[in-house]
Amino acid sequence: MKITIDDKTFEPFIEYSMIEKRIRLIGIQMNVDYEDKVPVFIGVLNGAFMFMADLMKEIHIGCETTFVKLASYHGGTKSSGMLTEEFPLSMDIKGRDVVIIEDIVDTGRTLKFLLDKIKSLEPASVKVATLLLKPEALEYQFDEIEFIGFEIANDFVVGYGLDYKNLGRNLQDIYRLCGQQLPG
Ligand code: IMP
Repeated sequence: MKITIDDKTFEPFIEYSMIEKRIRLIGIQMNVDYEDKVPVFIGVLNGAFMFMADLMKEIHIGCETTFVKLASYHGGTKSSGMLTEEFPLSMDIKGRDVVIIEDIVDTGRTLKFLLDKIKSLEPASVKVATLLLKPEALEYQFDEIEFIGFEIANDFVVGYGLDYKNLGRNLQDIYRLCGQQLPG
């Protein structure tokens, strides 16, 4: 069923049952990859809160969790390109195995900014898990993206942590902007 959020209409795109299945598989892969380690999972707020919560329930090895908050986009449907660190990393990650948890990688500017910061703190390793990836929008090549939920087209999506004008993060399923209306 289509839904309206503020001035835009969205159609169902990825059902929660699909998300759950994908997360279960990512969890299995992480449990194997980090079997003898105690990784630090860094969730990127606000968008990754739901993905992080569901993913952490599938992790059965010792681990630490923390969050950072960056802003690259301010309420519309396009990245503004401006980055600010609203809530910096609060723990020492030197020598640690870090996994960054992202909701979506669009242009990759946010991830680039965050990876540069994290790497400067000298972790033993750093990998990225993103629920969604828009390959056509990517402006950088990342070797660190190890875990991908779904690769999607260059459409604007909402739900499961992702917002449109700060609305819709609470939706359990992911919805896609209807038609070819170019987002403003
Ligand atoms: P990037 O820096 O262009 O990769 O953008 C990353 C950020 O932009 C994400 O963390 C989201 O907050 C936001 N974003 C990008 N695409 C979407 C989308 O389709 N829906 C909702 N937010 C998005």
